[in-house]
Amino acid sequence: MSGTSADGIDAALVEITREDHQPAVKLLHFEQRPYPPGIRDRILRLPDHPDALREVCRLNVLLAELFAQAALHLLEAASTSASEVALIGSHGQTICHLPTPVAEGDLVLRSTLQIGEPCVIAERTGLWTVADFRPRDMAVGGEGAPLTPYPHYLLFGHPGRCRVIVNLGGIANLTVLPSDVSVAAIEAFDAGPGNVLIDGVVRRLSGGTAEYDVDGAWAASGRVNQALLKRLLGHPFFRRPPPRSAGQEEFGPRMVEEIVVEAEQKKIPPADLVATVSAFSVEAVVGSLETFVFPRHPVREILLCGGGVRNRWLKGALATRLEPRAVLTTDDVGFPARAVEATAFAVLAYLTFAGQPGNLPSATGARQAVPLGKIIPGKGYSGMIL
Ligand SMILES: Nc1ncnc2c1ncn2[C@@H]1O[C@H](COP(=O)(O)OP(=O)(O)O)[C@@H](O)[C@H]1O
Ligand SMILES: [Mg+2]
Repeated sequence: MSGTSADGIDAALVEITREDHQPAVKLLHFEQRPYPPGIRDRILRLPDHPDALREVCRLNVLLAELFAQAALHLLEAASTSASEVALIGSHGQTICHLPTPVAEGDLVLRSTLQIGEPCVIAERTGLWTVADFRPRDMAVGGEGAPLTPYPHYLLFGHPGRCRVIVNLGGIANLTVLPSDVSVAAIEAFDAGPGNVLIDGVVRRLSGGTAEYDVDGAWAASGRVNQALLKRLLGHPFFRRPPPRSAGQEEFGPRMVEEIVVEAEQKKIPPADLVATVSAFSVEAVVGSLETFVFPRHPVREILLCGGGVRNRWLKGALATRLEPRAVLTTDDVGFPARAVEATAFAVLAYLTFAGQPGNLPSATGARQAVPLGKIIPGKGYSGMIL
């Protein structure tokens, strides 16, 4: 898995067994490998690349080689041989996500593009590979995102306790798991920016020497500029009711550039700007919860996951804003926060291989639940999970 942040590859080794008619999921091993120098830049700058078509074509294969290396490295670290593994699930790297329907003649189209050629992954590892999960959901009218709610339910559903999972990735998304643990009642949608603008502003202000605001220290040394925050919260995305999903198109390099230029004009000090975009992420999550979740669900616990959990400013500000509700991380309930999303795609790959749907129409807005992705044959027989 590599998310919108394009920070690197998350690889999870997961054991899935069938218990009580639904998969039981156990994390065996997890590794995070930052992309080699330059790759993140190439991904984030794709829209402005002068020869973007060739660059996409090349990155599709380059990223797949890196994904395959990450999988093989993970197996080595876990002292597990590839022959013990049934299949790989690869989300790929999103390079374009256009969920809003557009008319083309008589057709109405939604589109999304994840790269990291699965044929290369299958060839290098010898393993059956399931990839490209999002387009099938779009083909039945969905946003193609978020796809992690059902895996979230398997990992964190708790009878008698309404929980919200908040994934602080590049984009922040949330999943409401009702206390009656009914799958049909799960709701999920993108809240808005997670780390994506913080990372972008930090990279820009540090002249590229820092990739993110380590532990939220920069934000902690600044003061939130309320006027800029208010303007940011006027973004039309927040007026859209769920189902909704976002990407670099809504909150990405262009917005970073606008914000940095505005801050220079208004003489907003760098630390204040980092604090302000961090507060923007906090308010995106809090506003989404207050508008769409709290009025209808008796939320007992908010469980944070994703890389943003390590940003102490972000975590602290969320806890303060959401008081008196309990804000925890998934680590507090026994599952590593940084491994949740990669594990989710292992689960989705398993479901696809078993011919079962992985999307939840209540989350993506799809007309129906469908099996997701494409299956690339490996070198051996992989009937073992069926
Ligand atoms: N020590 C840290 N301090 C602050 N932020 C961090 C730290 N470690 C990771 N992050 C943030 O987490 C992001 C990666 O989160 P991740 O869940 O992988 O997002 P995505 O799914 O979009 O790739 C990084 O880009 C960074 O913003
Ligand atoms: Mg990541």
